[in-house]
Amino acid sequence: MTEIKKKRDGFGSKIGIIAAAAGSAIGLGNIYRFPCELGNNGGAAFLLVYLVVVIFLGVPVMLSELAIGRRSQSNAVGAFKKLAPKSAWPLVGYLGVLCGFIIFAFYSTVSGWTLEYIVKAVTNSFRGKDLATIEQDFADFHNMGWRNVMWQAVFIFLTGFVVFKGVQDGIEKYAKILMPLLFVILVVLGIRSVTLPGAGEGLSFLFKPDFSKITGKVLINALGQGFFSLSLGMGVLITYGSYIKKSDNLTSTAFSVVIADTLIALLAGIVIFPAAFSFGINPKAGMGLVFNTIPMIFNQMAGGYFFCIIFFVLLAIAALTSTISLLEVVVAYVSEQLHIKRQWATIVACAISLLVGAFASLSLMENTPFTICGKTMFDAMDFISSNVMLPLGGMLIVIFVGWKMGKSQFFAEVANEGALKAPMKAIIYFIIRYLAPLAIAVVFVTGLIK
Ligand code: PHE
Repeated sequence: MTEIKKKRDGFGSKIGIIAAAAGSAIGLGNIYRFPCELGNNGGAAFLLVYLVVVIFLGVPVMLSELAIGRRSQSNAVGAFKKLAPKSAWPLVGYLGVLCGFIIFAFYSTVSGWTLEYIVKAVTNSFRGKDLATIEQDFADFHNMGWRNVMWQAVFIFLTGFVVFKGVQDGIEKYAKILMPLLFVILVVLGIRSVTLPGAGEGLSFLFKPDFSKITGKVLINALGQGFFSLSLGMGVLITYGSYIKKSDNLTSTAFSVVIADTLIALLAGIVIFPAAFSFGINPKAGMGLVFNTIPMIFNQMAGGYFFCIIFFVLLAIAALTSTISLLEVVVAYVSEQLHIKRQWATIVACAISLLVGAFASLSLMENTPFTICGKTMFDAMDFISSNVMLPLGGMLIVIFVGWKMGKSQFFAEVANEGALKAPMKAIIYFIIRYLAPLAIAVVFVTGLIK
């Protein structure tokens, strides 16, 4: 136990930090959840609100989390205990740990699908199939509830395996090479998608906003998606921030991650919507939108067989670098605060996540008993964590920095104790102290009234 305390594990290089943080941010949230949300929330109108959220709230909230983490050199709960001893602030950390569990539980369901789809791609089972058959296959797969749970278990195991090994050997090594590769394959897919017949309609759906579609529901969903996609509001970046070297630049890290994440989401939109419109897939198809559109695109491509395999492998890896960060929040908390060995913490957290996560998977079967208030457990877990807990956590984090930690401590951390310049200091602090808490509160209230 003592050896855990002596030296904290950390990221080895600047590029490693960005890759790990971007690896957390970039995942199913960009490639699967973003198109689903956009399709269900009025297309371009949603995109517009999303971009405002990401630009104006994303960077300041991310910087706040990174600064809290690095200043305190501690996990999500420990950070608040150190920076605000004998106060209620550690509750924000507990909220994050709980949220991490919930997201890991349903996220691993979809992550498991990527493994099923790798197998489908390798066995060439999309070849020559029409849309109706591909859609039916997807629905049939959900009804095989235990098969979903099996893949979910495999995925949770893989995540546990990396986290078990710790920060530098595990997280950093894998993220560095694979994220750029994902970008390249999305560009190739995007080119194919926009050159399909009828693609233009999909592009206007994505880029021509109809302002009358901006409702309270769109606002709250875009806010939730923004936080979800950037991994904000639950302590991932507090935890990762604590592994960042004191000499590294937090501001440029935050900007790089936000830009990379947003680019990948946009690219996913450019891949999915032109193709969906071209094949006649309803943009409101939800879960099927991505999993049915993608194989259809590959069916129309030279070399589709190989590209399809690579795509699902990369999607699985993108999901993995995100689940690693979710689990890391929990494991860092348990091992540091409760003084339980990292390895044991990992095993126990994985077991509990699978137990809870199985309900999310089984709730997607037809006639499932696992529903809450008319929502499947899957949707309920997604909604409560992404649309309620993350924005709430994010709001409390900026309030903490703006009103408790204070300007001088915050900028001392951001500017590496004066060694660096802190760019746009006044604007960033204004957003953190006033604008972000207010904006999140307003969106929350309008969304809930609706
Ligand atoms: N940002 C990840 C994604 O887009 C999901 C995630 C959310 C990861 C919250 C960690 C924390 O897929």
